Amino acid sequence: NKTQELEGKNILVTAGATIEDIDPVRYITNNSSGKMGYSIAKESALMGANVILISGHTNLSVPYGIKEFVRIRSAKDMYDEVVNRYDNIDIVIKAAAVADYTPQKKADNKIKKSDTDMSIALTRTKDILKTLGENKKHQILVGFAAETTDVENYAKTKIQKKNLDMIVANNVSMEGAGFLSDTNIVDIYYSDGSKTHIPKSSKCEIAKLILKNIKDKFVK
Ligand code: PMT
Repeated sequence: NKTQELEGKNILVTAGATIEDIDPVRYITNNSSGKMGYSIAKESALMGANVILISGHTNLSVPYGIKEFVRIRSAKDMYDEVVNRYDNIDIVIKAAAVADYTPQKKADNKIKKSDTDMSIALTRTKDILKTLGENKKHQILVGFAAETTDVENYAKTKIQKKNLDMIVANNVSMEGAGFLSDTNIVDIYYSDGSKTHIPKSSKCEIAKLILKNIKDKFVK
């Protein structure tokens, strides 16, 4: 019998890309395929956890063994679904690529083109992780950082600003790391200042190592 290292733990994972509508036919999104987050959800379930997967857009099928699957569209939808469940969660892992800005207003009808340039006014979305950090009680909070420069510095700043226990940083401009690929290269930073490097590995392998590190560092 495989030992169930996360037996009985309620784990909430977010994955995929949010979609911010401009009008009924156009939107703003990003390159997240969902592979990183879905791998974490799948491996958490294999380790015995009760997994809730809150997913933005992906082309992936729901991993086997997930307790609850919630499909969302926008950053606002993800905020509502995550924050509503937070009290009963032991570990939150936020691999989703959430929009930082959304159109100030969604047009009810298709915006007609004209001969002049146009611009779209954007407004900030609410930072989900930051809200969770501000309201943290017993939860273990794990964020991701997708950066192209100065990765360590930005990752460590996010740990402080969002009151995280750990952050998984990927340099998304590196070959074989970040968005879309089946592999990733990550550095894990902890709130105590320590660090673990994981060289290029499949997202499944990286998911297993992230969970093993969470278990060893934080789960009694
Ligand atoms: O999906 P894949 O194609 O497999 O790619 C994986 C990935 C690159 C998307 C993943 O490894 C990753 O880095 N996910 C986080 C992407 C991101 O939005 O990073 P960020 O540095 O902009 O945000 C930092 C953290 O804050 C993230 O945990 C994010 O979920 C969270 N956030 C961001 C904005 C917001 N409004 N609310 C949030 O909670």
